Amino acid sequence: MSEKKDLIEELKALQSKAKSELEALVGEKALTSWKSEYLGKTSPVMQIFKRLADAENEERARIGQFANEVKSALESMYEQKVNATHQAALSEELAHEKLDVTIPGRRPLRGRLHITTTTLREMYRIFAEMGFQIYRSPEVESDENNFELLNIPTHHPARDLWDTFFTKKEGVILRTHTSPGQVRAMREFAPEPIRVVLPGMCYRYEQTDASHEFQFNQVELLVVGKKINFANLKGTLEEFVQRMYGKDVSTRIRPSYFPFVEPGGEMDVECFVCGGKGCSVCKQRGWLEILGCGMVHPVVLKNGGYDPQVYSGFAAGLGPERIAMLRYRIDDIRNFWANDVRFLQQF
Ligand code: PHE
Repeated sequence: MSEKKDLIEELKALQSKAKSELEALVGEKALTSWKSEYLGKTSPVMQIFKRLADAENEERARIGQFANEVKSALESMYEQKVNATHQAALSEELAHEKLDVTIPGRRPLRGRLHITTTTLREMYRIFAEMGFQIYRSPEVESDENNFELLNIPTHHPARDLWDTFFTKKEGVILRTHTSPGQVRAMREFAPEPIRVVLPGMCYRYEQTDASHEFQFNQVELLVVGKKINFANLKGTLEEFVQRMYGKDVSTRIRPSYFPFVEPGGEMDVECFVCGGKGCSVCKQRGWLEILGCGMVHPVVLKNGGYDPQVYSGFAAGLGPERIAMLRYRIDDIRNFWANDVRFLQQF
């Protein structure tokens, strides 16, 4: 009997000790440890229930009930203290962090498209108006697609023009131009007519300078069909230049050599800086080169699955960075991939 009485006394004492400790404590951390001390699984109140196991029924019920009352008293004390603590923290915060709604907002920094992306999109738009579709082909290419099938056999001296990066896998390289996409497109669409642009990054093992970079974009143009002729090539390219730079820009096509076209040429536009008179940007020539082009070589047509007796086509390779340089008078191609925000922010 007296042991049971003691239990009640013990609980009462516990409750008042818990209460005064709770009243005195400050802060979330102290609250948490108070909770585990008085309400956790191993706390004395919880242990009472275990210790009751061998008491008589009546006693057990009485003391058990009392223990439950203590337990819920402790719980509600705790709730109140938690609320009070949060409230105090909030008032503290509000008192210190005054919000001045009249201060002007800080404008978040906005990202922007890279100037090459903008230029590429502009080019896609112009070519889309002329009925071209975009055809993607991979940057990691086979030697066969990049050279062989474009009529550049292994020991052909023209390979010097397109020295590249090799992978550890034999015959797998980084493409030096977008022209290998020509063969891919032809093999996919033959014998249907084709009108596509093939954009993307190209790589060359280059000594870099103001107009040469070891990575750059190209946009390849490919048209294949019956009765496609040089006039179509010239008309398409001149139309492109006018839509890109304006109606009164003069262009010219000079003969040039690429093994995968016959005849081949390069297109120049009148120098924007000097208006054709000759200056340092155009190296006194008055003209700036923007692309290589020509009629698709019969060997390439055949490699693509078209009969050169029936089909003909034209192709061109444009440099979007060069095109952007002319448009915005950028004097060093290395700016494009140097990742200097001061340069990029201007566009
Ligand atoms: N692929 C050539 C180059 O990178 C450009 C080109 C494309 C020329 C298509 C003719 C026809 O130099």
